Amino acid sequence: MESNTQTSYRTHTCGELRSQDRDSIVTLTGWVHRRRDLGMLIFVDLRDRFGLTQITFNPELHPDVHELARELRHEFVIRVTGRVVLREGTNVNRSVSTGEIEVVAMSLEILSRAKTPPFAINDERLLLEEDLRLEYRYLDLRRPAMQQALVFRHQLAQLVRTFFTDYQFVEVETPVLMKSTPEGARDYLVPSRIHPGKFYALPQSPQIYKQLLMVSGLDRYFQIVKCFRDEDLRADRQPEFTQVDVEMASVDREDVLRVVEQLMARIFHVLMSEEIALPLPRLTYEEAMNMYGSDKPDVRFDLKIQYIDDLVKHSGFQIFRDVLQTATGAVGAIRVDGQAAAFSRKKTDALTDYVKTFGAKGLAIIKMEGDGPVSSLSKFLDAGALRSIAERTGLRPGDALLIVADHRRVVQNSLGALRLRIAEDLELIDERKSALLWIVDFPLLDWDEEERRYVAMHHPFTSPVDADLPLMETEPAKVRAKAYDLVMNGSELGGGSIRIHNKDVQNKMFDVLKLSEEERQSKFGFLLRAFEYGVPPHGGIALGFDRLAALLLGRKSIRDVIAFPKTNSAVSLMDQAPSAVDERQLRELHIRIA
Ligand code: AMO
Repeated sequence: MESNTQTSYRTHTCGELRSQDRDSIVTLTGWVHRRRDLGMLIFVDLRDRFGLTQITFNPELHPDVHELARELRHEFVIRVTGRVVLREGTNVNRSVSTGEIEVVAMSLEILSRAKTPPFAINDERLLLEEDLRLEYRYLDLRRPAMQQALVFRHQLAQLVRTFFTDYQFVEVETPVLMKSTPEGARDYLVPSRIHPGKFYALPQSPQIYKQLLMVSGLDRYFQIVKCFRDEDLRADRQPEFTQVDVEMASVDREDVLRVVEQLMARIFHVLMSEEIALPLPRLTYEEAMNMYGSDKPDVRFDLKIQYIDDLVKHSGFQIFRDVLQTATGAVGAIRVDGQAAAFSRKKTDALTDYVKTFGAKGLAIIKMEGDGPVSSLSKFLDAGALRSIAERTGLRPGDALLIVADHRRVVQNSLGALRLRIAEDLELIDERKSALLWIVDFPLLDWDEEERRYVAMHHPFTSPVDADLPLMETEPAKVRAKAYDLVMNGSELGGGSIRIHNKDVQNKMFDVLKLSEEERQSKFGFLLRAFEYGVPPHGGIALGFDRLAALLLGRKSIRDVIAFPKTNSAVSLMDQAPSAVDERQLRELHIRIA
């Protein structure tokens, strides 16, 4: 059968030939991946996206072809015609799909010569200096590991599309030029030429459009969509990134979670050959913060935070006593099993400095030895107190206990970070495992100390939990939201909520956010107007597509699953974006550089 990758240049790809093809005359094209000149014979591994095929140049069979082959260098693009020959005995290469055969060249054409690349394409390691990789991204992408990532990403997108299509969702494209509605991150702005002084914004997400599509009766929407956010970048954050964006009508939280769980199960089944148990585990936001000190806990390892407030409240240690006298004080501890020896004086000092960057004032340690607990705290705590702490936290000989006393949130943030750091340092994470879970019952509001007002933790259309509605006026900080995050291996993979579809509740929300009537209209007027024409209950979620691909492939950074990513300072090293523009372009846009 003629393969559908056959073209006018080639009969087969470099990943295609097998022993059944022996004696066929074939034509291949590709890059010179490796070249060995044994004087008499020249061997070339020819590479394309599909694989590697060994080509042999034999001077006795075709002297002129062999002569030309001596000119070949790494990354030359060539076209070879030859006969498929079986390899024998130890020459069979089991590590490549074409390892049973080689092609004995009868003719050779150099289609394109290549300069020596700035790094070896056949170097499998991804750890090369990343700036160099990004500057020559087109070469970096030639490397099999990167090609694998892009192909995987494509398969993932295909699977997502098929899944949602099966579930009666419709993919709708929403505008990339939209009205600026700053919330959350900063907007990327696009100046209007026709309307001097006015700007479009690039979407931080299609949130408003997808809600409007529910008003329009689309019922189930999804989109694999680019989003843009001008925020601080990290390994898992890019200024432009891709979401799997979802919205559904006539749903409550359980309906949304169920669909996403089914999607995740299919992804793991098809692409990872792994079955995940459903329903996924859930933690409330408070539980996650209390136990793991994070709203995106990595639950592949234990090291949970335990609290010993009642044991030290009346102890001789003033720091503990003082902290616990405040309404928000807490004393938290992490037990590290069997690793007391890992916490040398130097190590403990380094970890103390580390927790200080999260606001903690210090870090105490108790080590359990054969004859009881030993601690820097023994100056302040009597043996009985130390023993009761050891008992409560389950310390056994060889274990260490790390303790922080502070405001509850500082204890959680610092011990949450310390937990991750220790797990990494001591290699306690099983990288082959994946741990997915939901975090639910997020607080609706966050207090903004600078602005002295509440801000929406998710966005202003997120619905409060019904039972908490009366608290909106009395204790807004206590109101929980119908919001949920999907967490995988300590990364926030997605987030969403059930939206407010009731005008009174929406107004209450705006009241708490201290949005004036004018601001409500200028920012969200069109959405509010739409809601006056009949809006079904609705909700949705967005998954970070780049993060999903990176996590599934076990890549440390989403840059490794994005074809042309930007650096952490939002620069494209390959084409030098952002760049200066012509004076004339600026004039047309009515812009002067300040
Ligand atoms: P949220 O802001 O939580 O929700 O974004 C959803 C998911 O998108 C991913 N993500 C990012 N990935 C890479 N780079 C970034 N800069 C970046 N920012 C976010 C994360 C995140 O969980 N409209 C709402 C969704 C909804 O309510 O339905 C939204 O955008 O994985």
